Amino acid sequence: MAKIYYASRTAPVNIADLNLPTNSSISVTLSQKDLRTLTTASCSQDFEKDELWLNGQSHSLDTPRTQQCLSDLRKYREELEARDESLPKLSKMHLHIVSENNFPTAAGLASSAAGFAALISAIAKLYELPQTASDLSKIARKGSGSACRSLFGGYVAWEMGELENGEDSKAVEIAPLSHWPDMKACILVVSDDKKDVPSTSGMQLTVKTSPLFQHRIEKVVPQRFEEMKKSIMEKNFPLFAELTMKDSNSFHATCLDSYPPIFYLNDTSKRIIKLINLLNESVGEIIAAYTYDAGPNAVIYYEHKNESRVLGLLHAVFSSVDGWQKIDVKSLTPPSIELDPTWGSGV
Ligand code: ADP
Ligand code: CO
Repeated sequence: MAKIYYASRTAPVNIADLNLPTNSSISVTLSQKDLRTLTTASCSQDFEKDELWLNGQSHSLDTPRTQQCLSDLRKYREELEARDESLPKLSKMHLHIVSENNFPTAAGLASSAAGFAALISAIAKLYELPQTASDLSKIARKGSGSACRSLFGGYVAWEMGELENGEDSKAVEIAPLSHWPDMKACILVVSDDKKDVPSTSGMQLTVKTSPLFQHRIEKVVPQRFEEMKKSIMEKNFPLFAELTMKDSNSFHATCLDSYPPIFYLNDTSKRIIKLINLLNESVGEIIAAYTYDAGPNAVIYYEHKNESRVLGLLHAVFSSVDGWQKIDVKSLTPPSIELDPTWGSGV
């Protein structure tokens, strides 16, 4: 039996705040501890074809996007092998890839982002590639637009660049997670069902059919991108929160404006939006923000000092209304929930 070479990497989920593959965007990469993908890539002369097992099941690698990623990585490896004769010819061997997501796949929690980021970094590690995270982000982008950001921690800008073919589009870090230690995020898993419309085809339909989308990328996003960067640099939570919510609304408006329309938010998602607005109104300042990617699951941002208030409200509401118990409130950091009964009533 021939030698098996292998390497593993994990990649965390990132949540897009400005969610546009056709424009520059900003995202927050969540901590590795929480929602993550773990991928092991191996290769051997004995392997007969490239294969991927995702959460224990065989998963197709035969998409043009995935094939492009694999061939880019092999090309980099070939360059190394051409320079150094003593290196094993890994670029000529087939790959076996095993991956596990510790959160729902294809449910709008950016499994594609973490998935492709982990896939690419595991193969890059196996191949001992010298390329930087920014270089790899260019490959990851071809797999899943948002994946280029999961190669970085913290606050990441995905710059679209100037070139038509997107070759100069890459991710760069705005600030590490440690820059804003008070920032917290909590995921509300509204549904772990696989969504009807995969993100990429949804986005393509929106780009093609929504006039509102054109307006959004020309008139709305460029300015918001700069403001969002500023809010992060200044750790201005109310500004960050307002921009985040407005951008989520704007993105989902373009989904509805697509033809035929795309619905990612469900009734529960909409109720969460109402609840957060109600909370901010009652407090008289913005202490919490919601955002939704291409799916019904909410990401709630808040500052640590407001944790019990925000999570207390969510907990009280979801555990007291019939049928809402199904919602699984997972905090990304263990919450100390002090239930304030006045928050739970009347909502
Ligand atoms: P999501 O909102 O979860 O990102 P998408 O529709 O954008 O949903 O992408 C889901 C697809 O991403 C999956 O069907 C699968 O093809 C791919 N994917 C998800 N996780 C992984 C993984 N760990 N490794 C490789 N590909 C993955
Ligand atoms: Co995705």
